[in-house]
Order: sequence, then structure tokens, then C-alpha cells
Amino acid sequence: MIFQPFNFKSSTELRQAADAYGILLPWQDSLESLARPVTLGQASIPNRILAQPIEGFDAEANGAPSERSVNRYCELACGRFGCLWMGSISVNLEGRSNPSQLWLHDDTVDDFAAMLREVRASVDEPVYLVAQLTHSGRYSTVNGKPAPVCAFENPLIPKENGRIITDEEIDLLIEDYLYSVHLAAQAGFDAVDIRACHGYLINELFAAYHRPGRYGGNFENRVRMLMSIVQKAIDADEIEVGVRLNMHDGLPWPYGWGMNAVTGEMDLAEPLRLVEMLYEVGVRLFNISNGIGATTPFMIRPYDTGGPLPTESQLAGINRMLQCARSVKKIAPESIVVASGFTWLREYSPNVAAGGIEANWFDVAGWGRQSIAWPSFASAVLNNTEVQRDGCCTTCCGCTNLIKKSGKQLRCVLRKRLEKSQ
Ligand SMILES: Cc1cc2nc3c(=O)[nH]c(=O)nc-3n(C[C@H](O)[C@H](O)[C@H](O)COP(=O)(O)O)c2cc1C
Ligand code: SF4
Repeated sequence: MIFQPFNFKSSTELRQAADAYGILLPWQDSLESLARPVTLGQASIPNRILAQPIEGFDAEANGAPSERSVNRYCELACGRFGCLWMGSISVNLEGRSNPSQLWLHDDTVDDFAAMLREVRASVDEPVYLVAQLTHSGRYSTVNGKPAPVCAFENPLIPKENGRIITDEEIDLLIEDYLYSVHLAAQAGFDAVDIRACHGYLINELFAAYHRPGRYGGNFENRVRMLMSIVQKAIDADEIEVGVRLNMHDGLPWPYGWGMNAVTGEMDLAEPLRLVEMLYEVGVRLFNISNGIGATTPFMIRPYDTGGPLPTESQLAGINRMLQCARSVKKIAPESIVVASGFTWLREYSPNVAAGGIEANWFDVAGWGRQSIAWPSFASAVLNNTEVQRDGCCTTCCGCTNLIKKSGKQLRCVLRKRLEKSQ
């Protein structure tokens, strides 16, 4: 399977290519399943189209959402995304990767509450709002200067490793997470996500095979930080607790999670064991992802241009995402499982999403870059308006490079051009 830009002239060509690669691509001509509401705890998600977390680099200096952050989320709600997964809200000052990252604390909780009220007031139907809580780990900065802390030294990450965080610091950090969970409930979020993906601290600990102490070595130790937060947050019973979870980092053992030490192939035994444990303590919301931004970004978001040349085809990445979500759904059948990575499929993505939902591989489909390029994409799909390729995200990596390399506020660099066909 080779990496090549999206050039399928029809859905038949796309499906034939998948077949030729031995990929089972779910498919449904009718998009009816995307319009079906689904219940989670006391709340309802009005449809199956979710806006994935996208960090905006647009918070105020104190971490409060700015007018721009609020407008961004109102636009998505008006665009009928049934669930907004609000990305990368730091649990403390040290956990921010940049001075424009959202940060939930005593002095900003009212601003978050005001944002949620405004978002909800901007649409007639309900919208499900999730706070993604995070600590940036080796990508942390304080006052604009790098202040990285890592779970262990990883020679495969092309950045300085920083200081190894101590067990005692992790104990304290768990308390910060729990306080943020409390504040998220106070602000009026429907759920929190204890972010465990893309190489940030909690995810990195999963692969801390050689770390000594209580948070490294055996499986129970490596997942201890996540399990402690989740268990205590569920016991506190203030808000629905979800997890955005990496199933596979794409780095060889002992530097990545979800990898077989002997064969060097993806191995879901440990990730699925973790899903089982999370499900057992009461997690009913999983958002599944793969890859690490610094090394395997093509696994997080299959792209055509603008990123490092991948070692695999985009269809292989999408297949991995879908199959991972499917295996989580099998282990956690009563939970809401969100699948990722649809944007590369352009105008065919709703059919693949609807097919996966019909086949019970997952419950909700999440679009990341498409939501930046086309904030009313969900509305177009739900209204059965034909989705034109020229209006879709081209997977050019422009938005990622803007925020990650230039530190500028998030935007789609092609949006004006795409809008003509939307
Ligand atoms: C600019 C940008 C920022 C992102 N920020 C986050 C984030 O804050 N949290 C997160 O879990 N994922 C983040 N992601 C990953 C997306 O949520 C999503 O998983 C990814 O883009 C794949 O979905 P897509 O193919 O529909 O774009 C980001 C992606 C992009 C392109
Ligand atoms: S800049 Fe726009 S078109 Fe390019 S990847 Fe980002 S959202 Fe898609």
C-alpha cells in the first residue's frame, strides 16, 4: 500500500482501492444513521457527527476562552455538530504547551461557563460538550519558555526530553486533574476527557517500560496515573468521565505503546486490557486515536501534503483507526465509542461513517480538520446536501503547521477558497 494523494474519481474507485489492499471499508449509501440521537448518562447527543478536539491557540493569557475561541465553538454548534469535544484544556499552568492554551482554574471557570452558555444559546437543538483535560508533558512551556517534563527519556522523539517527572509530582498532578474535573462540572460541561493520546504525559507513561517506581515497569504501574484519575473522578460522581485513548503510538518497543516487543507489529493486547479496566470502573465514553504528533502524525491524521513523508498509505491509517475503534466497541459494548480520522475521505467520509455505525463498529464519527475547513459540514450532511469535494479539507497540514510551527491562532489556510463550493 503506497502513500498517494487522494485522487479517486468515484466512490467505486475508492472502494476498489480498499478492496485491493484487503481493507474492509464500511459503507452505507443512506446517511440516516448519522442523524440518530444517542443517550449518554442523563444527556443526549443529538446526532452522530462530532467535532474532534482541535487546539485553537486562541485563549486569553490567563487561559480563559477568548472571543475567538467562543466564536469558533458557536460556529460549530450552529453548523450542527452534535458533540463538541473542546481540545487541550490544561489542568495547570505548567501543563500548557503555549501561552495561548486554554487553562481551567478558579479564575477562569466563570469564563468557561459563559462560553458554554453562549454555545448552547446559539442553537435550537441540544449540543453535547466535552472538556478535554490535558498536561502537555514534554511539550510544556512556562511563560513562553520550554519547560518539558517527560515520563522517560525517549530517543525517538525529535525534541529535548526534559526532566523526568517524579512519582511525587505525578501524585500532585493527579490532584490537579481531579480539581479540573470538578471545575469542568461546575462550568457546565456534559463530560470530561482525561486525554491519554498523541504522546502527552499520560499516554507517554503507558510506554514507560523501564521507568522505576510506581508509574513505570509493569502494566498496572504504567496505566496507574490514568486509572487513578478516572477512578476518583467517577467516585466523585459530578460529571461523565471519558477518555481519548491512543491504542497504538507507532513507535517500536520499548518506546511506544500498543507494539509487540518481539514482532514489531501493532499489538492491542495491553490497550484492550486498559479499555476493559476503564469500562469496569464505569467509563462509557471512548474517543479512539493513534499516533504521536512529533513522530507518527500520519497515524493521527492521514494527509496528502505538508507533513513528513509517511511510511504507509492513508487508507492503511484510516483502516487502523476504524479497526481500533471496532475492537474497543466489542470490549465495551454499552459505551459510546467515537472513531477518528475521517477527513481524508472527503465527500465519501459520511458514507464510511454511516457504514461503521450501522455495522456497530462505533457509535459516533469525529471529524477534525473538516470541522476547521467547513464548520457547517454536519449541517450539510444532515440536510442531505451533496458534499462537494472542492469544499472539503484538502489535508494540506496548513492549520497544524500554523499553530505548531508558527504559534499562530488556528485557522484553515484554504478556507476562503473552499467556501465557494460549500
Ligand atoms: C490543528 C490540529 C489541532 C489538533 N488538536 C488536538 C487536540 O487539542 N486534542 C486532540 O486530542 N487532538 C487534536 N488534534 C487531532 C484531531 O482531533 C483528530 O484526531 C485528527 O485531526 C484526525 O481527524 P481528521 O482526519 O478528521 O482531521 C488536532 C488536529 C489538528 C489538525
Ligand atoms: S489548512 Fe484547511 S485544508 Fe489544510 S489541512 Fe487544515 S483544515 Fe484542511
